[in-house]
Formats: sequence, structure tokens, C-alpha cells
Amino acid sequence: MNPNIPRPLPHRTAPPSPAPLLPDACTRRRFLRQAAAASAALTLIPRHVLGAPGTPAPNSRLQLAGVGVGGVGFSQLQACARAGFHIAALCDVDDAYAKKAYDRWPQARRYRDFRDLLQAEGDRIDALYCATPDHTHALITVAALRRKKHVCCVKPLTRTVHESRVVVAEAQKAGVATQVTAAANTSDTACRSCELIAAGAIGPVREVHIWSSRPLWPQGMQRPPGEDPVPASLDWKLWLGPAPARPYKKQWPQGHYALAQANLPGGKAPSYSAVYHPWNFRGWWDFGTGALGDMGCHWLNTPFRALQLDHPARIRATSTKVPPETAPLASIVTFDFPARASRPSVRVVWHDGGLQPPCPSEMDGQPLPEEGTLYVGDEGKMLGATLLSPARAKQFESLPRTLERRGGTWAEWHQACQGGPKAGCHFAWAGLLNETVLLGNIAIRTGKHLEWNAPRMAFTSPQDANAHLQPPYHNGWSLDSI
Ligand SMILES: NC(=O)c1ccc[n+]([C@@H]2O[C@H](COP(=O)([O-])OP(=O)(O)OC[C@H]3O[C@@H](n4cnc5c(N)ncnc54)[C@H](O)[C@@H]3O)[C@@H](O)[C@H]2O)c1
Repeated sequence: MNPNIPRPLPHRTAPPSPAPLLPDACTRRRFLRQAAAASAALTLIPRHVLGAPGTPAPNSRLQLAGVGVGGVGFSQLQACARAGFHIAALCDVDDAYAKKAYDRWPQARRYRDFRDLLQAEGDRIDALYCATPDHTHALITVAALRRKKHVCCVKPLTRTVHESRVVVAEAQKAGVATQVTAAANTSDTACRSCELIAAGAIGPVREVHIWSSRPLWPQGMQRPPGEDPVPASLDWKLWLGPAPARPYKKQWPQGHYALAQANLPGGKAPSYSAVYHPWNFRGWWDFGTGALGDMGCHWLNTPFRALQLDHPARIRATSTKVPPETAPLASIVTFDFPARASRPSVRVVWHDGGLQPPCPSEMDGQPLPEEGTLYVGDEGKMLGATLLSPARAKQFESLPRTLERRGGTWAEWHQACQGGPKAGCHFAWAGLLNETVLLGNIAIRTGKHLEWNAPRMAFTSPQDANAHLQPPYHNGWSLDSI
């Protein structure tokens, strides 16, 4: 922890640790694993351990801390609670925006700074869920992993390639259960796509097109002039974290905002009129990762599994104008993956901002959906898990289900925390998806054809693109000392 960073006190001083029912979190974690194994074998756990029927004793549930709880964190923490976690602590830099979470879990201990949370909570928490903007994911997840907490992080795992490598390495060292909230690759549709491709339903696949209707927030913008007073409820310095300092700006000035609206695909209005916080950080390179970073990990998860993709070797992009500070309004990014074992090389083409691939003739004049994945094989095409040839659809109708359908993001992570199988989007897997979208962003920003050497974590060409892999941290923050 950097002593130069002034940090406000937590909202509520954490009470002293209550005498734990079990000596410490590691022991409790081991106990929970054993209890889960025992319940699978015997379904007999002493009542004093589990509490009355329907009301498990608090200590029998995994204790979860949520960091960044005002946006999607609020709904996803509810999903965590439904999966079996006890919401023990909450952390957010904006009291007003986080109020609904604070009201929902009034018993949860509150913090503004995640470092204070980790220090004060110590062994009282088993797991941490992170839903802050992209630029602080790495700091928060690495800090939790170094304290041996199970971690779930929203997608994209990190904002930079270097951060991604550090997070994945720390997760491996920690040996804890990890998960990223990318659309599950273990759902029925995802598994069906994998089974059909593995069965050769469209022959060897050489091309995949993915398209997203994002952005739904301003991109292609210049920084608005001036600054606004920081609301008392918000710690702007903590929100900025390792990003270069910049003045707080609440809303788009009149003209800029109209422009932002007009620039969105289909003229859709952004969900918030904020410049950065909340939600609209997405379009700013210092804080977010644009449309590709926002949606890419969701859409790439199943193709990566179905085609057993690894790192791309070449990446190039074309886009509307790329201003220095924000992602463009629309882009097309092409990733070339080398051949693997018996599988041919694959080209994956990403489209956003309302752009789509040409509609295949097999669609019979039907438009493509707003978002989707099109697999192009030597012997046919597949839209998601739907074979576009009626004859082939009939032929593969009764293809057996060979892959296990799992319970989704939260159940998978909860099971993994209890010693069950790894979650479908654990950090080592998610790191691959994350790096891919981040490389795509570097292709967008440089406008150059990139040759990627994954083992060396370097572009062999052009050399100057390497500067984007590890941009410096600011304001005293460091991944080394977190
Ligand atoms: N399906 C999904 O998995 C999914 C869906 C939506 C968003 N996301 C991801 O979730 C993240 C947040 O998106 P959002 O839409 O909720 O944004 P948001 O701006 O609405 O919410 C972010 C929250 O984090 C808080 N915060 C910011 N910096 C913090 C810090 N340093 N410490 C503690 N709290 C901090 C903010 O005050 C706010 O409450 C993004 O990375 C986004 O890509 C994932």
C-alpha cells in the first residue's frame, strides 16, 4: 500500500473481529470444502453447523465483500447472495450511487477504499467480487488474490495486457477460485455450439463473425472543457485510481451531449448523461475499453471454447476516426489465429457500432439479429447454435449432448469456492479472452497491422505498438506493492 496516497477513513469503523466459530477463514474454507464433500457423500451435516432448516448459520456461508456496488454490482451481488454467499462487506467510492446496495444489506460493513476493506476484514471474508470501472479491476483483484481471497471480477478482466498477465499469474499463485462474468460458455446454447462444431456439422471452421450493437455510451468524443465541483458523496481521487488526474466533469455541456447522442448507432441516447461517472467511463481509454472491451469477452467466450482458440498471431482494425482519448464510434477488428493440431487457422472478425457482416444468403432475406455470432465452415454456416442449412439441422437434430451444462456464473463460482470444479471463465481462461480484446483495441488505436508474439508478450511489428501494453500507473499506485 502506498503511504503517499491520502486515504479517507472507512465510512464506518469496522468493529473488532467477533470471536469466530472457527479459528480463521482458511480453516473455515477448508471446513466448507469438507462439508460440501461430506454433504455430497452423506447429506448429513450436524444441525449446529448448518443452523435451522432454511436459515443457515452465517458462518456456514462463504463471506463475500463487494467492491463497486452501485451499478451492475448491485444486481450481481444479489445473484451472489442467491448462489449462497453472505454479503459481509461493501465498498464504493460514491455513497449516493451505492445507496441502494447499502440499503439492501444494512448489516454489511462499509468502506470507501478497497485497501481499507482488505486490511480491516482480514480473515472475516473468504471472497471478493469486483465491479468497478475497468481501470481499477487489476489493482483490486491482485490485492485480493495476494490475500488468498476467492475473486470474481466483472468483464473485462483488466484494462491493459500487462495487468492481465499479472492478474492471471497471481491467481495461479494464490490457488483460489476465480471467475469472470463473461456470458457463460457452459450454457445450453454455448455447449450446443461446441458440440455441433466438434461433430463437424459445418465442417472445419475457418471464419467467425461477431457483431455487437454497442456502444450505447458516448464514444468518438473530445474531452469537454471546464470542470464541475465534485459531489460530497464521491471520492473522485479514489475513482481515478491509477489513471492520470483530470478534472471532474459531471455532465456533457449542451452541445457536446447532443453530439454524443447523435453519434450513437441508431441515434440511441446514452443511458446516463454523465461524462465519466457513472457508467460512461466505457468510451474513455484511460478508464474503459470501448465497445470491444465491453462486449468482446461475452461474445468470444463460446467461439474460443468451440474452436479451442489460443492467442491470435495477427490483428488489424479499421474504424471511424479515433480521437486521442476515446474509442471510435464503430470498428471492425480482424484477429488471425494460427492452425492448432488438426484444426485449420481461423479468422475472427469483430464488428461494432452498428456494423454487421454481410448477411449470408442462407438467411433467405431475413436480417441478421442486432448482435450475434456467425460460424463459417467449409460445409455450412451456423448462427449461434442454429445451423443455417435445414438439411444439416435435420441431420444433427438428435446429436447427443456430451458437454455438461452448468449452473451459470454465480453457481459455478460458488461451487469452485467450496472446492468444486473450476468455474467456466476462471482467470486463466478469461485472461486469454481479455488479452484478445485488448490487442484489438491496440490495433484500433494504432491503425496498424500488428504481429503478436504471445509468449514474449510483445509485438514483433510494429515496435511502437508495445507502448500500449503497459501504460504507466499514476498517483503513486502500483501493482507491485498493492
Ligand atoms: N454482464 C456483466 O458482466 C457486466 C454488465 C455490466 C457491467 N459490467 C462491468 O462492470 C464494471 C462496472 O460497470 P457499471 O456499469 O456497473 O459501472 P457504474 O459506473 O455504473 O458502476 C461502477 C461502481 O463502482 C464504483 N467505483 C468506482 N471506482 C471504485 C473504486 N476504486 N472502489 C470502489 N468502488 C468504485 C462506482 O462508484 C460505482 O458504484 C465495468 O467493468 C463493466 O464492464 C459487467
